[in-house]
Amino acid sequence: MTESAGREGAPVRLQKILAQAGVASRRASEDLIARGRVEVNGKIVREMGLKVDPATAVIRVDGTRIVLDEKMVYLALNKPRGVHTTMSDERGRPCVGDLVADRIDAGQRLFHVGRLDADTEGLLLVTNDGELAHRLMHPSYKVSKTYMATVTGVVGKGLGKQLREGIELEDGPAKVDQFSLLDVHDGRSLVKVVLHEGRKHIVRRLLAEAGFPVEDLVRTRFGSVALGDQRPGSFRKLNRTEISDLFTAVGL
Ligand code: URA
Repeated sequence: MTESAGREGAPVRLQKILAQAGVASRRASEDLIARGRVEVNGKIVREMGLKVDPATAVIRVDGTRIVLDEKMVYLALNKPRGVHTTMSDERGRPCVGDLVADRIDAGQRLFHVGRLDADTEGLLLVTNDGELAHRLMHPSYKVSKTYMATVTGVVGKGLGKQLREGIELEDGPAKVDQFSLLDVHDGRSLVKVVLHEGRKHIVRRLLAEAGFPVEDLVRTRFGSVALGDQRPGSFRKLNRTEISDLFTAVGL
């Protein structure tokens, strides 16, 4: 269930809900329903004029979940280096809350999905959907994250195998799902790692343990969401497909 679920409201005609959610005009939404492309709570609906409660129904079009509650917020933030992953900082240090201050001032109760170290740059999801945030952070859903790391040293052939097989850290073994060496330059290497772990400093600890301390770390992807060329400090709204893919990844 999302935060919106459980709050019951007045039932509304399905085609009206789809039109209000911006899926298609009311007429075109009727066409989608007639073609069997709309699913309500796991069942294809062809009946015209069915009324559903937008506060509780899970509606999909062509398998893509539609966010019905316009109060729900799903943002991709490019957290800059030097910014702490907190919504407010007691010591007045720059934090994620500062970057979305206008939205917090407007009354939105936002959470960051997991953490990035203060000196890591990159993609951080910010939402007011507590259930989605909770699941995305939970290791059992195995949502993958991609990082670009510049490390000290010339990475050789064996590192990928070593990281994929797993390395013993002080709090237990850890491994990556994918590894690639992208560049070697001036005694440094640029590597890409994909993993679904969320333990603190996991990428830095893994690479340091393997003999390659991280000098610079950027998260470029979280599940279905890619950072792209978003400038540090900026945020954007996730699109409908990105949101739906995140829901799907965690069984919502
Ligand atoms: N792993 C790290 O070491 N640091 C981060 O910020 C994220 C993953």
